[in-house]
Amino acid sequence: MAVLFPAHPGFRGPMAPQRLECDIFELEYEGTLPPALEGCFYRCGPDPQFPPKSTDDFFINGDGVVSMFRFRDGHVDFRSRFVRTEKFELERQARRALFGGYRNPFTDDPEVHGADRTTANTSVFWYDGELFAVKEDGLPHRLDPETLETRGKLRFEGQRTPHFTAHPKFDPVSGELVFYGTEAGGLASSDIAYCEADGHGTLTHEAWFEAPYASMVHDFALTQKYVIFPVMPTVADLPRMRKGGAHFAWDDGRETWLAVLPRKGTAKDVRYFRGPARWSFHTMNAFDEGSRVHIDLTVSEINGFSYLPNAEGKAWDPEKARSYLTRWTCDMANDSERFVEQRLSAMPSDFYKCDPRRATLPYRWGFMAAKDPDAPRVPGAPDTVFNTVAAIDHQSGRVHSYFVGAASVVQEPVFVQRSDDAPEGDGYLLAVVNRVAEKRAELLVLDTADLSAGPVATVKLPIPLRMTFHGDFVSGAQLGWQDGKSE
Ligand SMILES: [Fe+2]
Repeated sequence: MAVLFPAHPGFRGPMAPQRLECDIFELEYEGTLPPALEGCFYRCGPDPQFPPKSTDDFFINGDGVVSMFRFRDGHVDFRSRFVRTEKFELERQARRALFGGYRNPFTDDPEVHGADRTTANTSVFWYDGELFAVKEDGLPHRLDPETLETRGKLRFEGQRTPHFTAHPKFDPVSGELVFYGTEAGGLASSDIAYCEADGHGTLTHEAWFEAPYASMVHDFALTQKYVIFPVMPTVADLPRMRKGGAHFAWDDGRETWLAVLPRKGTAKDVRYFRGPARWSFHTMNAFDEGSRVHIDLTVSEINGFSYLPNAEGKAWDPEKARSYLTRWTCDMANDSERFVEQRLSAMPSDFYKCDPRRATLPYRWGFMAAKDPDAPRVPGAPDTVFNTVAAIDHQSGRVHSYFVGAASVVQEPVFVQRSDDAPEGDGYLLAVVNRVAEKRAELLVLDTADLSAGPVATVKLPIPLRMTFHGDFVSGAQLGWQDGKSE
C-alpha cells in the first residue's frame, strides 16, 4: 500500500503538488513598495488534494487553491487556502480521490454521481464588493477576501446556465459584468449561454445559441458594440467520454468559427466568421473601429495542451503549439465570411492583460508572459513555460521586456495602475517567479515606465509556488480598508 502521485512530469519537479495551506507573516522584501500596491494580489491555480484516480491525470485537473499577497503599510503577508468545493469536501472526508478524469464524470466513483465536479481552480475576480474563484465547468465560489474561507457560490437570480467562464469581462464604461457558460445544455452540448449583469448583482441578459460544434471556449472577446465567442477545434465528444476517454480532443479537420453578436443580442443575431484551424487560450482586448471588430489574442496552430489527444492520433508538435499575440479582424460591413489574421509580435506569449480602464475600447498597452526562445530550457519544466515579462505598445508595435533569469519560470503578470488618473498602462506589473533550482519563489514588482530596468521591489517567499493560472489585484479602497489604520 502506498500513497503516491504519478511519476510523470506533470507531477514532478516544478509541477510537483504542494497541497499547502499556509500563513506567512512579514515576508522579506527588498526595494520600494509603491503606494499603489496597498491592497491584495490574489492568484488561483490547481493543486490536487490527493493522488488522482488515474496515473495519466494532468495538471489542470487539480483542486483550486487561492493565494494572497497582502500589502499594507509597508508590510507583506502571504496566505493560501484550498477552495472548499463540493468535490474537495467529499474527497477530504474520504481521504482519497473520488472524482476521475478532467471533466469526465463517467470516470468518477458511483457514490459521487451528481455531485458538483468543479474545482474552482482557474481564476479569481472581484465583483460587487466580493471575491470569487472559478473554473469554467461550474459556478464561481465566493471567498472571504481576508481569510480566503469559501462562502457559497454565485448564481444570479434567474440565471439558467450552470457554468460560468473563468474569464468574465468588465465593461469600464457601463460597469457591466459580461460572462458566458459553455456546454450550458449538458455535457458536450454545443449550447453557449451569453450573459450580462449590471454592477450590483442583477442579471440583465441571458441568451443561448447553438455553436457549430461543442468545443473548449476558454476565453472570449468584448467590445462596446459586440461580443465574440471563438469556437476552435478542441472538440468535446460524449461517446468518447462514456468510454472513459478525454472530454476534449484536437480535430484540425474543423475550421475556427467566430460567433459575433451585438451586445445584448440573441441567437437570431449571431453572425459567423470562419478561418483555419486555430487554438487560443486568452484574449488581450478587443475593440471596434468603424465597421471592423478587432480581437487581440494568443494564437497557435494546434492545441496548446500536450496531454490532450489528437482526434486522428497525430503526435503533438511543440513548434506548432507555440502561441503568438495575433489580431483577428471581422468586418461587419462586408459580405466576407472570413476573418483576417495578423501576427502582432514574433515573441511567443500568453497570459494577457490590458489596462482595465481601456478594456472593450481602442487601447495602446498590452501585458503578457513571454518567452525568450534563446534562453536555456528550465530543468524539469515543460517547454511551454515563460521566462519573460513583456508589454506591447500597439502604437509603435514595440515590445518592452524583462527576462526574469535563468532556471526561472514566470507566471501571468497582473497590472496595477499607478493612480486613478494615471495615463493608460502607467503603473506596475506583479509577477510571481519560481526560482526552480533554489526551490523558492519571488513576487517581482516591475514599473511599466521602464520594464527592462528590472523590479523596483522583490518580495521573497521561502517556498516555491506551484504554477497558477490567473490573478487579480484588489485595492485597499475596494476592500474597504481605512487609510492609515493597520490591522
Ligand atoms: Fe485562462
